[in-house]
Amino acid sequence: MADAAAPPRTFVVGISGGSGAPYALRLIEVLLRAGARVEVVVSDAGRRVLQFETGVVGPGETVGARHLAPPPLRDRLVVHDLAAVESTPASGSARIDGVVLCPCSMGTVARVAHGFSTNLLERAADVALKEGRRLIVVPRETPLSAIHLRNMLALVEAGAVVLPAMPGFYHRPTTVAQLVDFVVARILDKLGVDHDLVERWHTPATGGDGSPWNEGEVIVDD
Ligand SMILES: Cc1cc2nc3c(=O)[nH]c(=O)nc-3n(C[C@H](O)[C@H](O)[C@H](O)COP(=O)(O)O)c2cc1C
Repeated sequence: MADAAAPPRTFVVGISGGSGAPYALRLIEVLLRAGARVEVVVSDAGRRVLQFETGVVGPGETVGARHLAPPPLRDRLVVHDLAAVESTPASGSARIDGVVLCPCSMGTVARVAHGFSTNLLERAADVALKEGRRLIVVPRETPLSAIHLRNMLALVEAGAVVLPAMPGFYHRPTTVAQLVDFVVARILDKLGVDHDLVERWHTPATGGDGSPWNEGEVIVDD
């Protein structure tokens, strides 16, 4: 239960140019619905991918709060200019409860892993690591080169959570929305934000008719 007197938690969502813009939109929506403040930074490639994958923003259009959330939720949403390194996410003294790079391109993974900040998105991640703030990196690439893997290891060694956009199938999803929610649910878990996006796993009942958990039984369909 949130403390009514406590200020809302503030999360930074960095949208870079990896595939998976729907994850970012859903994450922002759920964080806002949970009562959090959300500060968004979008890389140039992130804007292009957002356009290609979701159509919420038009060609060449600057991403604003109006593209990312409906009116009642927008009050707690700020979209920063990518170049605005004077903005709060760049500061170690700002009250930021967590930074999520979602989706995260391999280029951004590399730059953050090497402390090479060229814009506000990368700086926010860099500051999260130095301040011991929660940093969740949601990479999307396949296959992965040795360079990608080394860079992700460097992030984990520096204190980040690397949470690949890899939805599971054990909930038997039937829609893309369910696959998106699977990944977003894991991000929310790591941020400590309550949600009911996905039913939590529990010990499966065994022995029922048609149960896939009848260990040892071989079902032959003739
Ligand atoms: C439609 C589209 C999908 C892309 N998907 C990925 C991806 O899944 N992973 C990745 O690392 N790069 C992907 N890229 C390439 C990155 O956007 C590109 O490397 C870009 O320079 C990353 O810049 P950023 O890290 O500043 O966002 C994609 C590009 C486009 C146009």
